[in-house]
Amino acid sequence: MRNSPIGIFDSGVGGLTIYEEIHRLLPDENIIYLADSKNAPYGEKSKQEIINISVKNTEFLLSHGCKLIVVACNTASTNAVKYLREHYNIPFIRVQPAIKPAALNSKTKVVGILATKSTLKSELLYETSQRFAQGVDVVERVGVGLVTLIESGKMHSEEMTSLLKKHILPMLEKDIDHLVLGCTHYPFLTDQIQEIVGNKVRILDSGEAIARQTKVILEQENLINLDATEIKRRFYTNKDPEVMQKILDEFDEGFKAIKTNF
Ligand code: DGL
Repeated sequence: MRNSPIGIFDSGVGGLTIYEEIHRLLPDENIIYLADSKNAPYGEKSKQEIINISVKNTEFLLSHGCKLIVVACNTASTNAVKYLREHYNIPFIRVQPAIKPAALNSKTKVVGILATKSTLKSELLYETSQRFAQGVDVVERVGVGLVTLIESGKMHSEEMTSLLKKHILPMLEKDIDHLVLGCTHYPFLTDQIQEIVGNKVRILDSGEAIARQTKVILEQENLINLDATEIKRRFYTNKDPEVMQKILDEFDEGFKAIKTNF
């Protein structure tokens, strides 16, 4: 079991931002990544649809022998992880927007969160804000269109720049000093967003925290891989592999995107 892979899934390439952090912290782990790009974006789907899709993704990863699954998608984490934990007997790690550190460190007492519609209206987000952001104004914005642009390979485009400005400038007017990226696709846009917000706004994502949590759970469950002689990593996508390949090329680890008919 220890040398079985960690499974990671997302509605597309976004979860690769989480993969990067897990790879950094746990270089000896075997990993299977699934980009369910065919069904992206999840953010506009109903809770039940997101649960059904997450079950299919989980079954795919289990058929590859995964010992633990990281749900590297805020939308699936907020809507489906409770269900997955109740129905499967392996550990699930979920991602959660970094509202707590943003609220704790805010001087203006106004923080922004950019996420999908489904994440913003989820119970989990409501509870997190209630618990950790008392006395802080949380300005929410649905990042309409951002995931679709990234999934169609237009991460660096004029269309992206104007869409980002449209979403972010209204938050700046409200005097935010922290901006939480509540969708795992968005850290790919950090540099572009930083250019728009300037250096007075701190951008936060949850990648590192998720990697740390994955390590803690692997240790607790005695699942850390002890045999690092041959590390296997596989990156599956059920859509055009070019978008994923471009990102993998930037990681410079020589991995190939594998097309699956799943
Ligand atoms: N990466 C997913 C997330 O973190 C994107 C959601 C979507 O597909 O709309 O929410």
